[in-house]
Amino acid sequence: MGSPSEQDALSLLDQCSCGFMVSQVLFATCELGVFDVLAEAPEALGSDAVATRLGASSRGTELLLDACVSLKLLQVETRGGKALYQNTELSSTYLVRSSPRSQHNMLLYLARTTYLCWAHLAQAVREGRNQYRKAFGVPSDELFSAIYRSEDEQLQFMRALQDIWSVQGRGVMAAFDLSPFPLICDLGGCSGALAKECVSLYPGCRVTVFDIPAVVRMARKHFPLLQEGRIGFQEGDFFSDPLPGADLYVLARVLHDWADEKCARLLARVHQVCKPGGGVLVIESLLDEDSRGPLTTQLYSLNMLVQTEGRERTPAQYRALLAAAGFRGVQCRTTWGLYGAILARK
Ligand SMILES: C[S@@+](CC[C@H](N)C(=O)[O-])C[C@H]1O[C@@H](n2cnc3c(N)ncnc32)[C@H](O)[C@@H]1O
Repeated sequence: MGSPSEQDALSLLDQCSCGFMVSQVLFATCELGVFDVLAEAPEALGSDAVATRLGASSRGTELLLDACVSLKLLQVETRGGKALYQNTELSSTYLVRSSPRSQHNMLLYLARTTYLCWAHLAQAVREGRNQYRKAFGVPSDELFSAIYRSEDEQLQFMRALQDIWSVQGRGVMAAFDLSPFPLICDLGGCSGALAKECVSLYPGCRVTVFDIPAVVRMARKHFPLLQEGRIGFQEGDFFSDPLPGADLYVLARVLHDWADEKCARLLARVHQVCKPGGGVLVIESLLDEDSRGPLTTQLYSLNMLVQTEGRERTPAQYRALLAAAGFRGVQCRTTWGLYGAILARK
């Protein structure tokens, strides 16, 4: 019989070593469409009925559903000796594909791309570089060629990135009053998810979404924006092409992709084009000043190692990068979610 401290130690070890199984239960349940089948059914379903609708095995489905119940992703009720399954509030809100706050696309991206890169974490630590070559056989020399290695992959990435802003986008764009900045440029703004939040929060503003040509093409084709007219796209490379004129430049989840030298280069270019009195708004998941947490941001930082050239940073590290580029009056605010906002002025 182990002592309480030994039991605690083994339970912690168990939790850490089985963490990947928990992720896989979530990913597989999303991928199979279990949450969608349960959302469409007029009443709770038994595991055989779920299996039939999915075209999956009864044995596998029952095991998966029961694991989901323990993880609180599903709820179960026993009637007449039969287990009947339903979505929980969490799965109805965040996991059903048709929910406006669904994280389904991000979970598929994590399952199909991120998970495969993480299989090479030890190698990433040894080499200090991302693992696209090992995971997918693509050369990792140019980061976004590896990330956008096929049209399908690019589309999945763009859809995935939108998901979090459907929940937290409003919070990050409202962290500071941006109404003094009528013309905003979202650098690396992808499909325009944050631009949409911005124009709905600030009736007087217009946003230019600046991204590489392949992304702008795909955004126009697959992500129609209802606010056309107040949101426009411009193609270009933010490291080399002229940047659009604006009162405020947004960099959301852009600096974390790059090492300090490239961040410095990009921020210097933004400072050069920024009008006096204009600003830059950095949106990132922020590490505590002593880098001891939060764990999610530490894991994101490791994710930046396996998937990009960058890292997550502390507010002081962003302050230093912004100050070196010439920005002043740096203010940092946390939001209720995972992301913080940092505003600085020229
Ligand atoms: C991690 S994503 C963040 C997207 C978006 N800002 C968000 O928060 O969802 C980084 C974005 O930077 C864009 N990007 C990468 N390199 C770029 C470059 N050299 N010039 C312009 N955009 C670039 C990518 O296409 C992608 O849309």
